[in-house]
Amino acid sequence: MEYRELGRTGEKVPVLGMGTWGMGGRFERDERYDEREIRSLRFGIEMGLTLIDTAEIYGAGHAEELVGEAIKGLRDKVFIITKVWPSHYTYEGVLKAMEGSLSRLKTSYVDLYLLHWPSATVPIEETMRAMERLIDEGKTRYIGVSNFNSAELEEAMASLSRHEIVANEIRYNILIRSAEKDPIPFCLKEGITIIAYRPIERGSILTGYVREALEEVGRKYGKTPVQVALNWLISKPMTVAIPKASRIEHLKELAGSLGWRLSEEDVRLLEERIKW
Ligand SMILES: NC(=O)c1ccc[n+]([C@@H]2O[C@H](COP(=O)([O-])OP(=O)(O)OC[C@H]3O[C@@H](n4cnc5c(N)ncnc54)[C@H](OP(=O)(O)O)[C@@H]3O)[C@@H](O)[C@H]2O)c1
Repeated sequence: MEYRELGRTGEKVPVLGMGTWGMGGRFERDERYDEREIRSLRFGIEMGLTLIDTAEIYGAGHAEELVGEAIKGLRDKVFIITKVWPSHYTYEGVLKAMEGSLSRLKTSYVDLYLLHWPSATVPIEETMRAMERLIDEGKTRYIGVSNFNSAELEEAMASLSRHEIVANEIRYNILIRSAEKDPIPFCLKEGITIIAYRPIERGSILTGYVREALEEVGRKYGKTPVQVALNWLISKPMTVAIPKASRIEHLKELAGSLGWRLSEEDVRLLEERIKW
């Protein structure tokens, strides 16, 4: 596994982790595939994909329960990210949401707690006061945000009194690169890790001219389009990726995006061919 520093914390996290959206249901609980999902999460952890991204909203809490099952006996080997939903952004709401997540994950702390989306309803100062308290109480080791642009990030940072935002989780992949305008330059300047979600754009990179470009470059390295797309992503500074896979063969393919590097020339070639 390759590691990268989380923000300016000195903590190292895997460049490739696992997402969990759709595991245990989408916005509603679905227990039909529990065994398969737990098996894939365990398989991924064994392969070194020890950074796991989940959220209280996924499967109405059931995704967190599946993660809790999968990490039994392995808590000190994994880096758990979970997220609080905007409807819980009041001071008391955040504290209560964290208790819910901890109980579903069956752990006494998470590694990184994120605000899932920006919200205009509750003042960010109030939400961040609760987030800072959660660090002070040892319920999360780090805090961050998701889907924040640079202006929103600036506001969130200004509202903190004693801790830092270490990461911004955003949609970013070879096909969807608008984040390169905003907020990525701001994140790089401020030392905020970019956690790239939808890193294979839910399979859309595997169609049409995008697939062709990825295949062409991949041939040189003996790599598949998915592996090239993920290697492109983790070639970017301060960036880690969290693809989701429930199938073991998908996980094996994802792991093949590590341990080698696209040349700078091929990175440029891909960016010229794949317009956004
Ligand atoms: N913060 C946010 O607002 C936000 C928003 C969206 C997502 N996320 C996080 O980011 C994670 C990743 O994003 P995502 O799940 O939306 O999209 P994604 O990772 O781009 O794509 C997931 C899909 O790709 C398939 N897949 C995985 N490996 C594959 C392979 N080697 N070949 C072909 N298909 C493959 C998976 O299939 P199988 O499952 O069948 O293996 C799944 O259907 C989420 O799970 C979630 O944790 C966060």
